[in-house]
Amino acid sequence: PATAELEAPQHADVAALLPTPGAESDKYRRGVVGVVAGSARYPGAAVLAVAGALRGGSGAVRYVGPAGDAVIARFPETLVSAGPPAKAGRVQAWVIGPGLGEGPDARRAMKDVLASEVPVLVDADGLRLLDRKQARRRRAPLLLTPHAGEAAALLSVAREEVEGARLASARRLAAEFGATVLLKGSTTLVADAEGPVRVNPTGTGWLATAGTGDVLSGLTGSLLAAGLAPREAASAGAYLHGLAGRRAAGRTGAPIGASEVAAALAGAWADVAS
Ligand code: APR
Ligand code: MG
Repeated sequence: PATAELEAPQHADVAALLPTPGAESDKYRRGVVGVVAGSARYPGAAVLAVAGALRGGSGAVRYVGPAGDAVIARFPETLVSAGPPAKAGRVQAWVIGPGLGEGPDARRAMKDVLASEVPVLVDADGLRLLDRKQARRRRAPLLLTPHAGEAAALLSVAREEVEGARLASARRLAAEFGATVLLKGSTTLVADAEGPVRVNPTGTGWLATAGTGDVLSGLTGSLLAAGLAPREAASAGAYLHGLAGRRAAGRTGAPIGASEVAAALAGAWADVAS
């Protein structure tokens, strides 16, 4: 592709996007991010998405789902609601999908969240439950964060087809779902239906470990709740996440877990902001 079709943000570009609290800030004005994730089978996905969301600059994280006890045990600052998302308190952006499963509660939660009038980030199991018509009908922004396999399923093509044409696939997904798309992998892309595609310049192969995607979706949703547009939240989220992976793995390189990536996000933020 022509170079004009691609752009890679640098430290200063990302720094300019990051929210900074001021004297007039309070937790609600900084934004509340709602996280719908986890299931009896995968409670850890909820914990990891919340871990990312707590480092994304919003003023509060509201967790909605069956893994509230696990979330609170690890992060007591989380606001927990047991009922469906429609009955939870106000949020400025939703993240839905990590470890959610595909049961009746998950389906109901998807309906509620997509019917809301705030930005929504859909990841992992949420992508399996995503209805194209309902997605296109939304007026508020939609951000999808698939890996290549999830993107392939959404486009009804083979995974290899996405891997062989990542840029075109991200663009096509954005057009078909009326969404911004963060296509994950060794080269992470952020695409809208039009305009240049952003290539994330940070990251490390050590991020290829279970649960790092859940951290990224929480983080990026938190940036959405803090007021960033989907394209900006996605590129800042991918940038910080990649940097955190590098910091956690260290310069020499050593295996890390997703919890360590989440814990390294504060240092990555400070690196970028300074
Ligand atoms: N180089 C750099 N970054 C990578 C690489 C690589 N080679 N491979 C993966 N990553 C990054 C991705 O860009 C993404 O940020 O690691 C993260 C992995 O996210 P997911 O693919 O969503 O994996 P994760 O969710 O953590 O895995 C757990 O959830 O989505 C499901 O099917 C998925 O079963 C899996 C589960
Ligand atoms: Mg994932």
